[in-house]
Amino acid sequence: MKERLQKVIASSGVTSRRKAEQLIVDRRVRVNGKIVTELGTQVDPQRDRLEVDGRIIQTEPKRTYLFYKPRNVITSAADPHGRKVVTDYFQQLSVRVYPVGRLDYDTEGLLLMTNDGELAYRMTHPRFEIEKSYLAQVEGIPKQAIVERLERGIELEDGLTAPAKVSVVQVRQHSALIRLVIHEGRNRQVKRMCEAVGHPVIKLKRERIAFLRLEGLKPGEFRALTSEELQRLRRL
Ligand code: URA
Repeated sequence: MKERLQKVIASSGVTSRRKAEQLIVDRRVRVNGKIVTELGTQVDPQRDRLEVDGRIIQTEPKRTYLFYKPRNVITSAADPHGRKVVTDYFQQLSVRVYPVGRLDYDTEGLLLMTNDGELAYRMTHPRFEIEKSYLAQVEGIPKQAIVERLERGIELEDGLTAPAKVSVVQVRQHSALIRLVIHEGRNRQVKRMCEAVGHPVIKLKRERIAFLRLEGLKPGEFRALTSEELQRLRRL
Protein backbone atom coordinates (compact mmCIF):
# COMPACT_ATOMS: atom_id res chain seq x y z
CA MET A 1 0.00 0.00 0.00
CA LYS A 2 1.34 3.43 -0.95
CA GLU A 3 1.70 6.23 1.55
CA ARG A 4 3.11 9.74 1.64
CA LEU A 5 6.88 9.75 1.90
CA GLN A 6 7.08 12.11 4.91
CA LYS A 7 4.59 9.96 6.82
CA VAL A 8 6.59 6.79 6.16
CA ILE A 9 9.83 8.44 7.28
CA ALA A 10 8.18 9.79 10.43
CA SER A 11 6.55 6.49 11.34
CA SER A 12 9.87 4.64 11.01
CA GLY A 13 10.96 6.66 14.05
CA VAL A 14 13.73 8.66 12.34
CA THR A 15 12.10 12.00 13.08
CA SER A 16 8.82 13.94 13.28
CA ARG A 17 6.56 14.51 10.27
CA ARG A 18 7.53 18.19 10.09
CA LYS A 19 11.26 17.43 10.19
CA ALA A 20 10.78 14.63 7.65
CA GLU A 21 9.37 17.21 5.25
CA GLN A 22 12.44 19.37 5.80
CA LEU A 23 14.74 16.38 5.13
CA ILE A 24 12.99 15.84 1.80
CA VAL A 25 13.24 19.52 0.82
CA ASP A 26 16.91 19.51 1.83
CA ARG A 27 17.57 16.69 -0.70
CA ARG A 28 18.61 14.26 2.05
CA VAL A 29 16.08 11.54 1.16
CA ARG A 30 16.43 8.92 -1.55
CA VAL A 31 13.79 6.50 -2.80
CA ASN A 32 15.25 3.46 -4.56
CA GLY A 33 18.52 5.31 -4.95
CA LYS A 34 17.08 8.57 -6.38
CA ILE A 35 16.88 11.87 -4.52
CA VAL A 36 13.24 12.88 -4.09
CA THR A 37 12.36 16.50 -3.28
CA GLU A 38 8.61 16.50 -3.82
CA LEU A 39 6.57 16.42 -0.62
CA GLY A 40 3.78 13.90 -0.77
CA THR A 41 5.56 11.50 -3.12
CA GLN A 42 3.78 8.15 -2.81
CA VAL A 43 5.94 5.22 -1.72
CA ASP A 44 5.30 1.61 -0.76
CA PRO A 45 7.05 1.01 2.57
CA GLN A 46 7.08 -2.75 1.95
CA ARG A 47 8.77 -2.52 -1.44
CA ASP A 48 10.62 0.77 -1.82
CA ARG A 49 14.07 1.36 -0.40
CA LEU A 50 14.22 4.58 1.57
CA GLU A 51 17.41 6.28 2.67
CA VAL A 52 18.05 9.35 4.78
CA ASP A 53 21.60 10.71 4.49
CA GLY A 54 22.61 7.45 2.84
CA ARG A 55 21.28 5.28 5.66
CA ILE A 56 18.53 2.80 4.91
CA ILE A 57 15.53 3.28 7.12
CA GLN A 58 13.52 0.33 8.34
CA THR A 59 9.95 0.83 7.24
CA GLU A 60 8.56 -2.68 7.33
CA PRO A 61 7.54 -4.62 10.40
CA LYS A 62 10.54 -6.70 11.47
CA ARG A 63 10.19 -10.40 10.75
CA THR A 64 12.53 -13.27 11.45
CA TYR A 65 12.05 -16.87 10.34
CA LEU A 66 13.74 -20.14 11.09
CA PHE A 67 14.15 -21.91 7.75
CA TYR A 68 15.18 -25.50 7.00
CA LYS A 69 17.30 -24.86 3.91
CA PRO A 70 17.26 -27.89 1.63
CA ARG A 71 20.38 -29.09 -0.21
CA ASN A 72 20.95 -27.70 -3.71
CA VAL A 73 19.58 -24.25 -2.97
CA ILE A 74 21.70 -21.09 -3.12
CA THR A 75 21.89 -18.84 -0.05
CA SER A 76 21.21 -15.65 -1.95
CA ALA A 77 18.35 -13.50 -3.18
CA ALA A 78 19.08 -14.15 -6.87
CA ASP A 79 21.17 -16.47 -9.02
CA PRO A 80 22.40 -15.48 -12.49
CA HIS A 81 22.21 -19.15 -13.56
CA GLY A 82 18.57 -19.49 -12.56
CA ARG A 83 19.13 -22.02 -9.80
CA LYS A 84 16.79 -22.15 -6.82
CA VAL A 85 17.55 -19.55 -4.14
CA VAL A 86 16.45 -19.38 -0.50
CA THR A 87 14.22 -16.33 -1.04
CA ASP A 88 12.10 -18.39 -3.51
CA TYR A 89 10.56 -20.03 -0.43
CA PHE A 90 9.42 -16.69 1.00
CA GLN A 91 7.60 -15.23 -2.02
CA GLN A 92 4.17 -15.34 -0.39
CA LEU A 93 5.20 -13.07 2.50
CA SER A 94 4.32 -9.39 2.42
CA VAL A 95 7.84 -8.48 3.61
CA ARG A 96 11.14 -9.24 1.95
CA VAL A 97 13.56 -11.24 4.07
CA TYR A 98 17.22 -12.04 3.54
CA PRO A 99 19.48 -14.85 4.72
CA VAL A 100 21.54 -14.32 7.88
CA GLY A 101 24.99 -15.59 6.96
CA ARG A 102 25.16 -18.44 4.50
CA LEU A 103 25.11 -22.17 3.98
CA ASP A 104 26.79 -23.76 0.98
CA TYR A 105 24.72 -24.91 -1.99
CA ASP A 106 25.04 -28.56 -0.93
CA THR A 107 24.64 -27.94 2.82
CA GLU A 108 21.22 -28.30 4.40
CA GLY A 109 19.89 -27.11 7.71
CA LEU A 110 19.04 -24.17 9.86
CA LEU A 111 19.19 -20.74 8.27
CA LEU A 112 17.68 -17.59 9.74
CA MET A 113 15.88 -15.29 7.32
CA THR A 114 15.12 -11.73 8.39
CA ASN A 115 14.55 -8.13 7.40
CA ASP A 116 15.97 -6.99 10.74
CA GLY A 117 19.42 -5.61 9.96
CA GLU A 118 20.41 -5.23 13.60
CA LEU A 119 19.58 -8.86 14.39
CA ALA A 120 21.42 -10.08 11.29
CA TYR A 121 24.50 -8.12 12.34
CA ARG A 122 24.47 -9.54 15.86
CA MET A 123 24.02 -13.10 14.63
CA THR A 124 26.92 -12.97 12.18
CA HIS A 125 29.53 -10.71 13.77
CA PRO A 126 32.30 -12.89 15.31
CA ARG A 127 32.36 -10.59 18.37
CA PHE A 128 29.04 -12.07 19.57
CA GLU A 129 30.37 -15.67 19.34
CA ILE A 130 27.02 -17.25 18.49
CA GLU A 131 27.34 -21.04 18.61
CA LYS A 132 26.49 -23.11 15.54
CA SER A 133 26.32 -26.88 15.60
CA TYR A 134 26.93 -28.99 12.48
CA LEU A 135 26.55 -32.68 11.75
CA ALA A 136 29.08 -33.79 9.17
CA GLN A 137 29.35 -37.14 7.49
CA VAL A 138 33.05 -37.48 6.74
CA GLU A 139 35.17 -39.94 4.80
CA GLY A 140 36.96 -42.41 7.06
CA ILE A 141 36.76 -42.65 10.82
CA PRO A 142 38.56 -39.86 12.70
CA LYS A 143 40.81 -41.05 15.55
CA GLN A 144 40.72 -39.35 18.96
CA ALA A 145 43.89 -37.40 18.14
CA ILE A 146 42.17 -35.93 15.07
CA VAL A 147 39.13 -34.97 17.12
CA GLU A 148 41.42 -33.18 19.55
CA ARG A 149 43.20 -31.35 16.72
CA LEU A 150 39.87 -30.13 15.38
CA GLU A 151 38.96 -28.99 18.89
CA ARG A 152 42.21 -27.11 19.50
CA GLY A 153 42.15 -25.28 16.17
CA ILE A 154 43.26 -25.95 12.62
CA GLU A 155 45.62 -23.75 10.63
CA LEU A 156 43.70 -22.78 7.48
CA GLU A 157 44.84 -20.36 4.79
CA ASP A 158 42.92 -17.57 6.57
CA GLY A 159 44.40 -18.37 9.97
CA LEU A 160 43.94 -20.65 12.97
CA THR A 161 40.35 -21.67 13.75
CA ALA A 162 39.01 -20.90 17.23
CA PRO A 163 38.60 -23.77 19.71
CA ALA A 164 35.63 -26.00 18.82
CA LYS A 165 33.69 -28.83 20.43
CA VAL A 166 33.91 -32.01 18.37
CA SER A 167 32.52 -35.49 18.96
CA VAL A 168 32.08 -38.66 16.92
CA VAL A 169 28.36 -39.45 16.88
CA GLN A 170 28.24 -42.58 14.74
CA VAL A 171 30.78 -44.84 13.08
CA ARG A 172 29.91 -46.52 9.77
CA GLN A 173 31.94 -48.83 7.58
CA HIS A 174 33.90 -46.21 5.64
CA SER A 175 32.63 -42.98 7.10
CA ALA A 176 31.61 -41.36 10.36
CA LEU A 177 29.10 -38.83 11.56
CA ILE A 178 30.71 -36.09 13.63
CA ARG A 179 29.29 -33.10 15.44
CA LEU A 180 31.23 -29.82 15.36
CA VAL A 181 30.19 -26.85 17.43
CA ILE A 182 31.89 -23.64 16.32
CA HIS A 183 31.22 -19.95 16.77
CA GLU A 184 33.07 -18.54 13.80
CA GLY A 185 31.42 -18.28 10.42
CA ARG A 186 34.20 -18.43 7.88
CA ASN A 187 33.55 -19.45 4.33
CA ARG A 188 33.27 -23.29 4.02
CA GLN A 189 34.77 -23.53 7.48
CA VAL A 190 33.60 -27.01 8.49
CA LYS A 191 34.51 -28.52 5.13
CA ARG A 192 37.96 -26.92 5.19
CA MET A 193 38.62 -28.02 8.77
CA CYS A 194 37.68 -31.64 8.02
CA GLU A 195 39.59 -31.64 4.73
CA ALA A 196 42.68 -30.32 6.53
CA VAL A 197 42.75 -33.37 8.84
CA GLY A 198 42.21 -35.84 6.01
CA HIS A 199 38.49 -36.49 6.45
CA PRO A 200 36.62 -34.69 3.64
CA VAL A 201 32.96 -33.93 4.23
CA ILE A 202 30.46 -36.03 2.30
CA LYS A 203 27.31 -34.40 3.67
CA LEU A 204 26.78 -31.42 5.93
CA LYS A 205 23.83 -30.22 7.97
CA ARG A 206 23.54 -27.30 10.38
CA GLU A 207 21.36 -28.53 13.22
CA ARG A 208 21.50 -25.61 15.64
CA ILE A 209 22.22 -21.88 15.99
CA ALA A 210 22.47 -20.79 19.64
CA PHE A 211 19.35 -22.39 21.23
CA LEU A 212 17.41 -22.63 17.95
CA ARG A 213 16.88 -26.06 16.42
CA LEU A 214 15.16 -27.52 13.36
CA GLU A 215 12.62 -29.57 15.32
CA GLY A 216 9.27 -29.89 13.59
CA LEU A 217 10.46 -28.63 10.19
CA LYS A 218 11.13 -30.55 6.98
CA PRO A 219 13.51 -29.29 4.29
CA GLY A 220 11.93 -26.25 2.60
CA GLU A 221 9.70 -25.38 5.57
CA PHE A 222 9.99 -22.37 7.84
CA ARG A 223 8.33 -20.83 10.87
CA ALA A 224 8.36 -17.40 12.47
CA LEU A 225 10.44 -17.04 15.61
CA THR A 226 8.34 -16.54 18.73
CA SER A 227 8.65 -13.29 20.68
CA GLU A 228 10.37 -15.24 23.50
CA GLU A 229 12.94 -16.58 21.05
CA LEU A 230 13.55 -13.09 19.67
CA GLN A 231 14.03 -11.72 23.16
CA ARG A 232 16.45 -14.51 24.03
CA LEU A 233 18.44 -13.86 20.85
CA ARG A 234 18.72 -10.15 21.68
CA ARG A 235 20.03 -11.00 25.14
CA LEU A 236 22.81 -13.30 23.84
N1 URA B 1 30.80 -24.84 6.94
C1 URA B 1 30.85 -25.28 5.67
O1 URA B 1 31.86 -25.80 5.25
N2 URA B 1 29.78 -25.13 4.89
C2 URA B 1 28.62 -24.58 5.30
O2 URA B 1 27.65 -24.47 4.54
C3 URA B 1 28.56 -24.12 6.63
C4 URA B 1 29.67 -24.25 7.43
